[in-house]
Amino acid sequence: MPSLVQNLMVWDASYDWPEDGEEWSAAWGGSANHWSMWLYPRVRAFLPAKKVLEIAVGHGRWTQYLAQRCDELIGVDIAGTAIAHCRQRFADDPRLSFHVNDGTSLAAASDRSVDLVFSFDSLVHAEADVLGGYMVEFARVLSDDGVVFIHHSNVAALGAVDPERVHWRAPSVSAAIVERFAASAGLRCVIQEPFAWEAQTLTDCISVITRPGSRWDTGANRVEPNDRYRTEETRMGLTVAGLYPPAPPLAQHGASHAEALNLAAAGDAQGARALLANALRRTIAPEALNDLAVLSHRCGDHKTAITLLEALVCLHPDDVAARENLADLRTQPDLR
Ligand SMILES: C[S@@+](CC[C@H](N)C(=O)[O-])C[C@H]1O[C@@H](n2cnc3c(N)ncnc32)[C@H](O)[C@@H]1O
Repeated sequence: MPSLVQNLMVWDASYDWPEDGEEWSAAWGGSANHWSMWLYPRVRAFLPAKKVLEIAVGHGRWTQYLAQRCDELIGVDIAGTAIAHCRQRFADDPRLSFHVNDGTSLAAASDRSVDLVFSFDSLVHAEADVLGGYMVEFARVLSDDGVVFIHHSNVAALGAVDPERVHWRAPSVSAAIVERFAASAGLRCVIQEPFAWEAQTLTDCISVITRPGSRWDTGANRVEPNDRYRTEETRMGLTVAGLYPPAPPLAQHGASHAEALNLAAAGDAQGARALLANALRRTIAPEALNDLAVLSHRCGDHKTAITLLEALVCLHPDDVAARENLADLRTQPDLR
């Protein structure tokens, strides 16, 4: 039984984090592939999000990717050493904050403030008492359209299992139990993917949980078992990682600009604005400022568009296109 105390003893004291969690993504050729080929396709509908709460951050293996797609991220973990590591690792990003928690509650988040609660590769080691405690907290912290994406154990659904073969998964938790916890907390499970960490046994599960009536509430729980976790995607990840160099950190900022333009082209101007605002918080790039101004104008936010162009002209007085755009906008009526 992986109790809270045992989790604390392992992760805070005895485990030495040789590669800050990257060691668990080795089969994918690294966490970048693991994120983009396996996790991101599942969680992308809920990103970008204004405020993300990540439970059990460890050394920030997923935090680094979530941080690119939100305005603010709160990370919690029971292990003080993990939180100290994340504070240092992400010290240059003031949008992220990290807190030691008690393993069942989320005091760092205020009521109805969180748009995405995320946890992967941690709460599989949490027993039913921990999941039950967090569920009550989810009901408190989720915003009206907020959503929970958590990875937990499904071992209670399997009957008798050899504890050696389930990778320390909690025996008291299953998809059905999490669905019941959600209902008792006034929430609703809308997607569950029981999956096989290995050997085709459905030891794990991802549950997506929301408020009844939220934009994610489909009125029913879609349960889709998946007996493959490491197959095509892992093979592809290894090939890619073996052949091509890794993306430099700065390319990721550029990528969020490019991704914003893709979103805008697909008609999601609001999503594109959120991504651009994020990119600008890190680096004030003139092209991103200009694109954010254009998108703001397109969304009817005339005032913001003018403010952004004024800032651009102030920073780059020689930017003729920006001056012309600003002059143009000033002659147009504010439609709001
Ligand atoms: C296997 S590590 C994974 C960390 C990170 N999610 C990753 O995938 O790299 C498990 C982490 O979960 C944390 N943890 C375990 N139980 C927890 C709980 N109930 N609440 C918060 N953190 C917990 C541990 O301290 C540890 O940092």
